[in-house]
Amino acid sequence: MRVLVTGGAGFVGRAVVAALLEEGHEAVVLARRPDTPAARTLAARDGVRVVAGDILDPASLPSALESADAVVHLVGIISECGRQTFDRVHRLGTQHLLQAVRQTGRIRRFIHISALGTRPDAPSRYHQSKWAAEQAVRASGLDWTIFRPSLIFGPGDQFVNRFARMSRWSPILPIPGSGRGTMQPVAVEVVAAAFARALTEPRAIGRTFDLVGPEEMTLAQILDHILAACGRRRWKLRIPGPLARIQAAILEWLWPRLLKRPAPLNRDQLLMLEERNTGDPRPAIELFGLPVIRFAQGLRQMFPPAGTNAP
Ligand SMILES: NC(=O)c1ccc[n+]([C@@H]2O[C@H](COP(=O)([O-])OP(=O)(O)OC[C@H]3O[C@@H](n4cnc5c(N)ncnc54)[C@H](OP(=O)(O)O)[C@@H]3O)[C@@H](O)[C@H]2O)c1
Repeated sequence: MRVLVTGGAGFVGRAVVAALLEEGHEAVVLARRPDTPAARTLAARDGVRVVAGDILDPASLPSALESADAVVHLVGIISECGRQTFDRVHRLGTQHLLQAVRQTGRIRRFIHISALGTRPDAPSRYHQSKWAAEQAVRASGLDWTIFRPSLIFGPGDQFVNRFARMSRWSPILPIPGSGRGTMQPVAVEVVAAAFARALTEPRAIGRTFDLVGPEEMTLAQILDHILAACGRRRWKLRIPGPLARIQAAILEWLWPRLLKRPAPLNRDQLLMLEERNTGDPRPAIELFGLPVIRFAQGLRQMFPPAGTNAP
């Protein structure tokens, strides 16, 4: 099968493309900038073609879909910047893509990434826009499957690597807010395998699956694991909610204006960090035969102890 992968040059996208190739498929990667190192590396692989396109520019989509038999839709943002708002990228962009897919009159299979905690009454605008996107997918008339991952970790991720980098120079790691929220970190290779296997699994059509790891953890526990994997000891400092929100508001204002980049922390993320956000791993494990990878086990591969070779 030839699969259009939107967001294929991103962190999750690169792993999904690798899993597709492993399952014998070909990938057409939609990227806003096909000349980035990540996109070039992908384009150099057999079975991968990178095409220029932006899901906010509907005119760029039909040519990208020309030779595709199915679509894996991974585009998403965790922080807003300029015209890349949650609502535009998640809801409007998904609507553009669904419209372009329907217009082919040929492509039926559509696999969509959402996020754990997505629901209509969610407090964060990230989750609200992901819900609007899910609803558009469900109403599309296509053969859809929706995956809702928890925090995804693996080589090249933003979350674990940011804290690991910070622990190199900082004696403290921050825990914004109450610290009571929880997550179920899931390994990127598990997420990628689910997408690749769902393509040819008719029982996945019309279903929504959580993609979560086996352990529910607070941010403090996640940081403890990261520090242990990096072989460092650091203090963890709780930043009271109001102070964290002021800090996030300043970053949200400054970063896009000064650096033209999304802020490294925003108030939406703080809302999500307060939630007990857990899911059921079993339906996806059972249907797709996914491996169970514990957080510490995945981290050992990301940060192999000195003297051992990274796999
Ligand atoms: N990482 C997690 O822990 C996690 C957890 C749950 C759900 N998710 C979801 O998983 C998906 C992938 O996340 P990720 O961590 O891989 O993020 P990522 O590394 O930032 O990848 C996102 C990709 O989307 C592309 N993109 C953004 N806006 C676009 C647009 N308007 N048109 C076309 N492409 C666009 C980005 O390209 P540029 O480089 O051009 O911006 C990038 O390649 C997202 O939908 C995210 O919400 C992630």
